[in-house]
Amino acid sequence: MAILPLIYSPDPLLKKISEPVAEVNDEIRQLLDDMVETMHDRQGIGLAAVQVGVLKRILVMDLGYGSKRYAEAGGEGESNPIHMVNPEIVASSDEENIYEEGCLSFPGQFAEVIRPKMVTIEYLDYDGNKQRVDCDELLSTCVQHEIDHLNGITFVDHLSRVKRNMILKKLEKQFKHNM
Ligand code: NI
Repeated sequence: MAILPLIYSPDPLLKKISEPVAEVNDEIRQLLDDMVETMHDRQGIGLAAVQVGVLKRILVMDLGYGSKRYAEAGGEGESNPIHMVNPEIVASSDEENIYEEGCLSFPGQFAEVIRPKMVTIEYLDYDGNKQRVDCDELLSTCVQHEIDHLNGITFVDHLSRVKRNMILKKLEKQFKHNM
């Protein structure tokens, strides 16, 4: 396993649409493992392949490990990674939910985003088997955020232009300051 370098906004790759994966083979499983390790290292709860510079429709999530938010909620911090290849939203609720979202490609930036409260996802798992899962609460928000990445959309695209520009400016300042 390896920790992979992340890309950050405003990297133009973040606006690209990722390609479907033809087959879940060992090369893909290696990428999935590396992505989980990278996500844990950065205390993230979700990561899309594009964020490590790979334009494939792959995402990983783990709500139970490393996440500060999970620790604040009194969680056990146990690792329970979810691997999704070619995930698709096949149903979503009319009811909506608001979560304060962040993103490993926008370090230190957070904003409230409104999304459908529940979604049903079809995807291929680590072994290439087709799965269908109903997602609610934080898992629902997280999977929608990550699937957005596969379509070249980031959480700031859900905000007003004013809020989005504010975050992009803050990020620019932060990067200048750190380099
Ligand atoms: Ni993100």
